[in-house]
Amino acid sequence: MAEPIEIMDPLIPAERIQTRVRELAQEITRDYEATHRPLSVVVVLKGACFFAIDLLRYLDVSTRLDFLQASSYHGMASTGEVRLHSDIHMPIAGTDVLLVEDIVDTGLTAAWLRRHLASHEPASVRLCSLLDKPAHREIPVEIDYVGFAIPDEFVLGYGLDYEEEYRNLPAIYVARPATRVPTT
Ligand code: IMP
Ligand code: MG
Repeated sequence: MAEPIEIMDPLIPAERIQTRVRELAQEITRDYEATHRPLSVVVVLKGACFFAIDLLRYLDVSTRLDFLQASSYHGMASTGEVRLHSDIHMPIAGTDVLLVEDIVDTGLTAAWLRRHLASHEPASVRLCSLLDKPAHREIPVEIDYVGFAIPDEFVLGYGLDYEEEYRNLPAIYVARPATRVPTT
């Protein structure tokens, strides 16, 4: 059973997320509209789904879409190892790839996925992450597009989960272990 948590006030309200997602989409559109290659958007399941779908709606370049699933994280602490649970099926050789993540924490997942995608010989690989939590970075990762840098807190909502729950919250909240109330 998951440890009980306490959910604090929203760290990033839903409207601010949407405004920032639109700004990122405009920036990405500007960067890719002059290329004559398709943009392959590769979304990391499951956390980045909500962000990626909103982002795609605002992008004004022609895109191709695929998903992969990887994890390096269990509960509130990273395990340090990356496992690829499912890979992309779409060929990406010769295309520009935009890897879409929910959050970069230690950097292990993003760094590993960047290398993995680069091995398919795309024309380029860039990383777009909704959140950047630099406090526990273990390896340097270049994040080309960042939604918000956040403090060293565990967050959930807008795709991010705690033990698979809370992904559907429209805003992003800080979660802390619940303070135990003595029962006797
Ligand atoms: P990294 O490999 O340590 O950078 O971890 C990246 C993955 O850890 C993300 O894709 C998330 O699934 C998960 N993660 C890291 N921090 C948080 C958090 O604060 N809330 C929820 N998931 C997190
Ligand atoms: Mg996750």
